[in-house]
Amino acid sequence: MYSEKVMDHFMNPRNVGEMENPDAIGEVGNPTCGDLMKMYLRIEDNIIKDIKFQTFGCGAAIATSSMMTELAMGKTLDEALELTRDDVADSLDGLPPVKMHCSNLSADALKAAIEDYRKKHQ
Ligand code: FES
Repeated sequence: MYSEKVMDHFMNPRNVGEMENPDAIGEVGNPTCGDLMKMYLRIEDNIIKDIKFQTFGCGAAIATSSMMTELAMGKTLDEALELTRDDVADSLDGLPPVKMHCSNLSADALKAAIEDYRKKHQ
């Protein structure tokens, strides 16, 4: 049911944990299942220099967040805003359709964190 890449990111999530003194935090809940996601960003010159996540979510939420942090790392804020749940699912060689909503969490938390940063730095 799950690709090898999903299993790898679920078993060995990248960039997981809390960040000290982040430049921005995005926190969202998934209305479908009630799971929660927090994403932390360190930003320099409009570029994501570091990114971490924490989640109370299912295995697919963990795997998609892990992949999202890898996709977003090193991107400009505008490039990161373009990342969608489909980019994440494609990078993981697909997700079962019933689990696609789980990848919303990482995309929404990343967007919320970028909005948080932009609010603070307007
Ligand atoms: Fe809630 Fe996957 S079931 S994020």
